[in-house]
Amino acid sequence: MTSITSVPLLDLTRNDPEVLDRMREAFDRVLVSGRYIMGPEIDGLEAECAEFLGIEHAIGVSSGTDALILALMSLGIGAGDEVICPTYTFFATAGSIWRVGAKPVFVDCDPITYNLDPAEIEAKITPATKALMPVHLFGQCADMTPVLEVASKHGVRIIEDAAQAISARYDTTSGPVSAGGMGDFGCFSFFPSKNLGCLGDGGLVTTNDAELAEHARIMRVHGGKPKYYHHFVGGNFRLDPLQAALLRIKLPLLPAATEGRRRNAARYVERLQAAGVVSADPAEVGSGQIGLPQAVRDHIFNQFTLRSPERDALREWLGERGIGTEIYYPVPMHLQACFAELGHREGDFPRSEQAARETLALPIFPELAPEEIDYVADGVIAFCRSRGTGS
Ligand SMILES: Cc1ncc(COP(=O)(O)O)c(C=O)c1O
Repeated sequence: MTSITSVPLLDLTRNDPEVLDRMREAFDRVLVSGRYIMGPEIDGLEAECAEFLGIEHAIGVSSGTDALILALMSLGIGAGDEVICPTYTFFATAGSIWRVGAKPVFVDCDPITYNLDPAEIEAKITPATKALMPVHLFGQCADMTPVLEVASKHGVRIIEDAAQAISARYDTTSGPVSAGGMGDFGCFSFFPSKNLGCLGDGGLVTTNDAELAEHARIMRVHGGKPKYYHHFVGGNFRLDPLQAALLRIKLPLLPAATEGRRRNAARYVERLQAAGVVSADPAEVGSGQIGLPQAVRDHIFNQFTLRSPERDALREWLGERGIGTEIYYPVPMHLQACFAELGHREGDFPRSEQAARETLALPIFPELAPEEIDYVADGVIAFCRSRGTGS
């Protein structure tokens, strides 16, 4: 084997040739079908996703962002309403709330999982609060039991942003449930970097409520039912049948791909721990040390996110060795310029601000070779040693 000199953060071209052939067949099937909007590929994917996730209704949509917007619109959330969400998240979480005219109300993150801290929610509830939007960040569910309790106590809805967590499970009081199956709506993204990605944009809305499902289906096509008769103003939130056909091939392969990610994560953990560079406290990491991601619950590792107080230097060090990394996310939502009128300032959510300064995602995609994981781990270890840590 040639020695490794670089490892990409993500490589979407490492496809099994047999799977590629099946995708070409699917493309041809759609090409000659003449059905380019809705139709059997969408119906098939929706049924297969519902069954796979153990959630009663699944609705294919145009992106994860549109999944969130469709869920908000289907619950009638808009001007004058407030939705509580984490500040440490991808922009679409807060952006979708803003785009329907509602106000995002932020909570800080748990320093171990980076998910929203449920203990902060209740104090933020006002008469205007219509929903909570927990995010299952990096592939691990938010702590949903207290989120569900506070929502039911105050009669507010839950929209799960499960864009990064397809198939992650959470142990509810009544047994394990898939991400996206605990709230009123679950929202998923099929963006190519997600664990189940399509060849462009796509998303999914899930719900166990038949009436909400029916309403979301109407809102997906401009709010018209029958066609051209509108009791509601919806949008065009349709998924392309071509993407659905391709996703139907990839969906059964998802469990094996998730296993690959978990295997890679375990190898990083083993290598980094053996080198003595891991901080005992994953949330408070000293110089020359790293904090490991903590799988407190079932974790599907959409991201493998380290923590280092010298994050930017570590990133540069790895970059010099050809190792791709990414910062998810450098600016929490409460400090985004577009939300300035909410009046937040630095220091409002210290744990999220610290995470934004310290976290760094390493390559974790399932097709990585063990030698590539070792090359990346060696790069991290060498950085720590350069700072005087590690045996
Ligand atoms: C947490 C989170 N929410 C929402 C989205 C939006 O999904 P999409 O890019 O498919 O619109 C993403 C993905 O990019 C995400 O990571």
